[in-house]
Amino acid sequence: MCCPTERSLQEIALRTVIIGATGHIGTWLVPRLVRAGHDVVAVSRGMRRPYHDAVEWNSVQRVTIDRVLEEHAGTFARSIAGLHAEAVVDLTCFDPVSAMHLVQVLRDRVGVFVHCGTLWVHGTPATRPYDEKAPRHPFGDYGIRKALVERVLLDAADGGFPAILLHPGHISGPGWLPINPAGHLDKGVFDALADGGRVTLVDDGMATLQHVHADDVAQAFELALLHRDVAVGEAFHVAAAAPVTMRAYAEAVASWFGREARLTYLPWEEWLLTVGERDAELTRDHMLHSPCASIGKARAMLGFEPRFTALAAVRDALTPIYPSLA
Ligand SMILES: NC(=O)c1ccc[n+]([C@@H]2O[C@H](COP(=O)([O-])OP(=O)(O)OC[C@H]3O[C@@H](n4cnc5c(N)ncnc54)[C@H](OP(=O)(O)O)[C@@H]3O)[C@@H](O)[C@H]2O)c1
Repeated sequence: MCCPTERSLQEIALRTVIIGATGHIGTWLVPRLVRAGHDVVAVSRGMRRPYHDAVEWNSVQRVTIDRVLEEHAGTFARSIAGLHAEAVVDLTCFDPVSAMHLVQVLRDRVGVFVHCGTLWVHGTPATRPYDEKAPRHPFGDYGIRKALVERVLLDAADGGFPAILLHPGHISGPGWLPINPAGHLDKGVFDALADGGRVTLVDDGMATLQHVHADDVAQAFELALLHRDVAVGEAFHVAAAAPVTMRAYAEAVASWFGREARLTYLPWEEWLLTVGERDAELTRDHMLHSPCASIGKARAMLGFEPRFTALAAVRDALTPIYPSLA
């Protein structure tokens, strides 16, 4: 495989439109693509700012489009086409009809189209670890829709549309809370582990989580654009190289604060009564998915190498909240 230094800037650099450019991924991806020489067009509603500033944003064209409003009006795909992109990175597609419209309008107009999927397209894994060929048995509205979007794009790729799919794990980074060792988003779990408090996990705490640092997700998008000649028509897992069990995760977090984790285990039906409805729903979702995705394909075909393990990604995310972790 060719490495970036062997490729001319012209070959690498594209006019690249990023749909949903100011969120978790875009915060890291936009500066990366600017540094790589891309002419970046950042699309969003202009309501959110990136999680941290970077000088590279000064050379980015900002375009305000509300995807939801424009999809209702039937103008979204044409608005994106009007930006005359050579590459489109779609970070905000959750609907197969929306993906189909983009395919219809952008066909023959873009050289590469990279969609952000999710490991959830697999549903509950039948074997562990699993690669991208593992069957899709998604459950829940989000996973089902993302799997349908994937089908639309892979079918389109068979017909010549230059689609690439990247499927991240739990995206983590400084500026927002990562999924905690109990499988939900209550900061209290981290506080308890930091303070020597008791944390209750479901069953034996052996369900898995597979975080990925947002900058590693951004790395994968940059590499997919770079290696589009081999990546088109392919789906890639984008996650830390290995998952972590909820129990090992809790123990690691406590150890970062010089503590031993004080863990209690409860069967699901009893644990469920100890948390709010939203937390229970999130934990159930994470436990059922218990990801253990291989990143071998992204490593081999894209040269993807995550800088962060799952635990290191979490620690980096927690450092602004708990400065003693720095
Ligand atoms: N979070 C995870 O752990 C995770 C895991 C796997 C896969 N994913 C995938 O990651 C993707 C999301 O990426 P992200 O986490 O970087 O997103 P994010 O942090 O939620 O950011 C969303 C971006 O889209 C913009 N946006 C939101 N609504 C919009 C609209 N109606 N029209 C135009 N722009 C809009 C936001 O800016 P404005 O608000 O200013 O418009 C922002 O730039 C999704 O495809 C999701 O399936 C996420």
